[in-house]
This record gives sequence, structure tokens and C-alpha cells, in this order.
Amino acid sequence: MAKVYVFDHPLIQHKLTYIRDKNTGTKEFRELVDEVATLMMFEITREMSLKEVMVETPVASAKAKVISGKKLAIIPILRAGIGMVDGILNLIPAAKVGHVGLYRDPQTLKPVEYYVKLPSDVHERELILVDPMLATGGSAIAAVDSLKTRGAKNIKFMCLIAAPEGVEEMKKAHPDVDIYIAGLDEKLSEQGYIIPGLGDAGDRLFGTK
Ligand code: PRP
Ligand code: URA
Repeated sequence: MAKVYVFDHPLIQHKLTYIRDKNTGTKEFRELVDEVATLMMFEITREMSLKEVMVETPVASAKAKVISGKKLAIIPILRAGIGMVDGILNLIPAAKVGHVGLYRDPQTLKPVEYYVKLPSDVHERELILVDPMLATGGSAIAAVDSLKTRGAKNIKFMCLIAAPEGVEEMKKAHPDVDIYIAGLDEKLSEQGYIIPGLGDAGDRLFGTK
């Protein structure tokens, strides 16, 4: 069964409050999303495996540790997921980046896929799928479907804000995908917005509407 982690680190919670604030403008919103993505990734990488190596310091030989195991790829769900990529690359600069393009049909709220481009060795990598919002869960579920169809085996999903309804749907559809959340909110509105949420993540990141 999928594990769900809600990050209660004070810095993440502090920055998330200003991300939610309707008076936060586009520039600051972008910077805050970037910073929270870095902090969340720092927490997620706690689970990375290490291997022992020898290193020559200026003084002596020493046993030391470096990261081992599968290489990473970051997969933003377009558009809003793009806002989280640089924050993750700050920590893992060599990670590859794939893209899954989806939008929610405003009437049906169902995801519509319009673009997919992934690293060719996607089946060998650990994938961090990112999107600021997990609302009905439709987009994240469709993105994971799309990744699995193309051979992905090892996927984590990271979002800023989730509705309980979306988390349940995602757990049911993809029990092998752990979910990492900064804020778990109350519910979904009838229009499919997360309450209290932050509004439309893509519009706030890119200054559209
Ligand atoms: C938003 C958000 C998620 C999706 C979440 O994207 O970034 O991808 O909605 O909703 P769901 O869980 O109900 O599927 P949107 O469709 O607005 O597209 P955009 O990123 O291009 O603005
Ligand atoms: N997508 C968003 O950007 N915001 C929501 O609240 C729900 C879906």
C-alpha cells in the first residue's frame, strides 16, 4: 500500500502559508514554490542509499560515503509542475527531466494528455513525478499510467497541496506510488478546487488568467 508523507517541517509550513496567500504576486509565488520543492526534496532524499568509498584527504585516506542506487529523473506534469523542477535540480543537478503534458477539462475535470517526452532509460530510473496540486487525483493518476505504459517501475509523487479525495483515489489506482505532500487540505469544492488550497497553481505561477 502506498505511504503518504505530510511534511511538517517549520520552513515548509511557513513558506506554504505565503504560497497560499492571494496577495502573493507571481514573482514571489515562483520563488516560494522553488524553495519548497528544494526543502521537500531534501526530506525525500533522506531515504537514498549510500555506498562506502575511499577518499584521499590532504591528510590521510578515509572511508567515506557517496550516494548509490538508481539514478533519478524528475517528471513535471505540465504546466504547473515546471515550477518545482529547478528547486529539485538545486539538490540533484545531474537528474534528467521528462515531461508529461496534461490539462484538466474544465467541464468534466478529466485529464487530457497532450505531450509526453521521457528519458530513454526511464525503466531503470527512480522517477519523482511533481505537480503542485493533487485535487481529484485524475491528473496524477493519468500521469503515472502514462509513465508505467512507457516502462517506468519506480515512481514517487510529490505535490505541494492535496485534497483527501485525491489522495484516496491515487492510493487506490497506484498503491505502489508513495505520495509526499506539504499541505493536506480539507476537501474539494464542487468545481474541483482544493479548499482552502492556493487557487489555480498554473495561473499563479505563470501570471495567466
Ligand atoms: C492543475 C494542477 C494539476 C491538476 C490537478 O493543472 O497543476 O495538474 O490541475 O487536478 P486533478 O487532481 O483534479 O487532476 P491544470 O489542469 O489546471 O493545468 P495547468 O497546469 O496547465 O494549469
Ligand atoms: N488545480 C489547481 O491548480 N488548483 C486546484 O485547487 C485544483 C486543481
